[in-house]
Amino acid sequence: MRILFKNIKELLQIRDKSTRFISGEDMKVLPTLKNAFLLVQNDIISDFGAMEDCPEEADVDQVIDAEGKMLMPAWCDSHTHLVYAGNREGEFVDKINGLSYQEIAEKGGGILNSAKKVQDISEAELYEQTKIRLEEIIALGTGAVEIKSGYGLTLESELKMLSVIKRLKANYNLPIKATFLGAHAVPETYKNNKSGYVDYIINEMIPLVAEAKLADYVDVFCETGYFSVEDTESILEAGKRHGLTPKIHVNQFTSIGGVQAGLKHHALSLDHLEEMTDSDIEVLKDTLTMPVALPGCSFFLSIPYTPGRKMIDAGLPLALATDYNPGSSPSGNMNFVVSAACVKMKLTPEEAINAATLNGAYAMGLEHNVGSITKGKQANLILTKPINSYHFIPYSFGNHQIETVYLNGKEVL
Ligand code: NIG
Ligand code: FE
Repeated sequence: MRILFKNIKELLQIRDKSTRFISGEDMKVLPTLKNAFLLVQNDIISDFGAMEDCPEEADVDQVIDAEGKMLMPAWCDSHTHLVYAGNREGEFVDKINGLSYQEIAEKGGGILNSAKKVQDISEAELYEQTKIRLEEIIALGTGAVEIKSGYGLTLESELKMLSVIKRLKANYNLPIKATFLGAHAVPETYKNNKSGYVDYIINEMIPLVAEAKLADYVDVFCETGYFSVEDTESILEAGKRHGLTPKIHVNQFTSIGGVQAGLKHHALSLDHLEEMTDSDIEVLKDTLTMPVALPGCSFFLSIPYTPGRKMIDAGLPLALATDYNPGSSPSGNMNFVVSAACVKMKLTPEEAINAATLNGAYAMGLEHNVGSITKGKQANLILTKPINSYHFIPYSFGNHQIETVYLNGKEVL
């Protein structure tokens, strides 16, 4: 099957194969080509270039006229918790009435509230609820996604969540990475015995999850009142022994040394980072670890935004993700995330688009598959509505400029 996009007003985010991620000054540049064509063959971007070199229409199976429209890689959302049961809109109202995220958690809300709901539901029902959210984010332009467990908090329930992710991988046409986040909160049964829960994660959960090949990554909520730096290190070490690469929730509310611990264990990404000291920024320089900002969470919880401007100015790379979850960011809309990064973190549209495509792909080990217009990559693409310039994408916040999403070159209906 050969599909030809012709008359593309501007083809965005053109990169060669060797560019794995983009940092610092380079993030200001979004390489593009005006008046372009792109050819998809067997799910893959097989060629692109100037319209004057456009292949003969007689040689292809389908022609899409993109006059006035832009074509770009689909969003890469490297941090979500989109497997969950029910919702937590009651806590949303508590928050409006003045309770903090921590206070809500202390009165039985928060992660433990979602864990109870996941424990009480069947895997089949959990799958049904989750697939609605996955289909919703695909329609909003997401073409690769990472999904975490962490609302199970018992072996059985964590496996239930990871099995749902496995089924999604089998049934949907986009790359999905699975992360084991048993260390998301200390469950009720271990209330006064956190070290017992950490041992349970290390000795019971991780070996079984890894043996069943249900996860690619291991994650920990490294935060005051949740898991300490020491807990985090032991869990990451156990994960690594079983072939799981670390990713960490870190510096959301406090800077306690988790960034340094993540670097020590070669974390692929460090996520949240709302509270960053100068030395947290300094140690991230010249590493292969991707910092990931989650502006939807900052917006929803009214907490500080990750200092993305300062981090990029210091020469760091940055990725953007939604953190889609029922407690701190009940939205998987990458279009909003890109707008919020521009408005609240002062990223330029070029920086925000780089952060939400190739850098997001890198943060889930998919930089060779998606995240840029590169020959040989999967044709997971966004075709915009007719727009004047790509600046219109973050500018039109609360809306989106997507006309059609393609996964493997096939239109998503
Ligand atoms: O990434 N911070 C920890 N975990 C989630 C929120 C989980 C919840 O409130 O349900 C996050 O923000
Ligand atoms: Fe998260």
